[in-house]
Amino acid sequence: MSAPVITIDGPSGVGKGTISKALADALGWHYLDSGALYRILAYAAAQAGVDFADADALVALAASLQIDFTSGAQLNGKSVERFIRTEQAGEYASRVAQHPQIRSAILELQRGFLKPPGLVADGRDMGTTIFPQTPHKFYLTAAAEERAKRRYKQLKEKGLDGNIAALFRDIQQRDERDTNRADSPLRPAEDANIIDTTQLSINEVLKKVIGQLPFEVDVPLD
Ligand code: C5P
Repeated sequence: MSAPVITIDGPSGVGKGTISKALADALGWHYLDSGALYRILAYAAAQAGVDFADADALVALAASLQIDFTSGAQLNGKSVERFIRTEQAGEYASRVAQHPQIRSAILELQRGFLKPPGLVADGRDMGTTIFPQTPHKFYLTAAAEERAKRRYKQLKEKGLDGNIAALFRDIQQRDERDTNRADSPLRPAEDANIIDTTQLSINEVLKKVIGQLPFEVDVPLD
């Protein structure tokens, strides 16, 4: 590997994004939000009227997209942040992400995010499929009820609508699809550090993660 990688995997709403971003910032490393790639692809497919079940058309579409994260998620030069962060975009993404052809089409794109001084990679299969050789693997879990509550809070903070019962149902449905798909299903790598975050604050999780790392991490923790 050209540089070190920390992988942070887990189900939706577990806080991976917040933890991964904080860690990447504290280390001064790059950050890969792999879920955003599936979200952008699903958004582009919806816009282009491509059927989520048509793997070949999705692969062709993926090859034609220009994706950039230098200032938020951008597709073909335009910000798509507000379209891809909705619950519906997450649901669409998990349908697109089921296709092995799509997963292999964006495999190298994901590995390309690894550049010095290092990468924090957030997703479902970062430790199992994309960067299996890294020794720094984490898998975050939390009870589905707690994840629905966190999602609700997150949506409110962004000024978006949410309903806890509906979020809970969506989370269960997405867990089910992500865990049961044939290619790169959601599961911890054998050598991953598993952290149950149900009762933990973001700072407590960050502290646990940092405690397992051999790197100097400069982050203010209470
Ligand atoms: O993490 P996020 O909620 O943005 O991911 C959206 C969806 O993309 C997930 O529900 C999952 O189906 C898919 N995904 C994936 N592999 C990844 C990241 C996300 O299959 N590495």
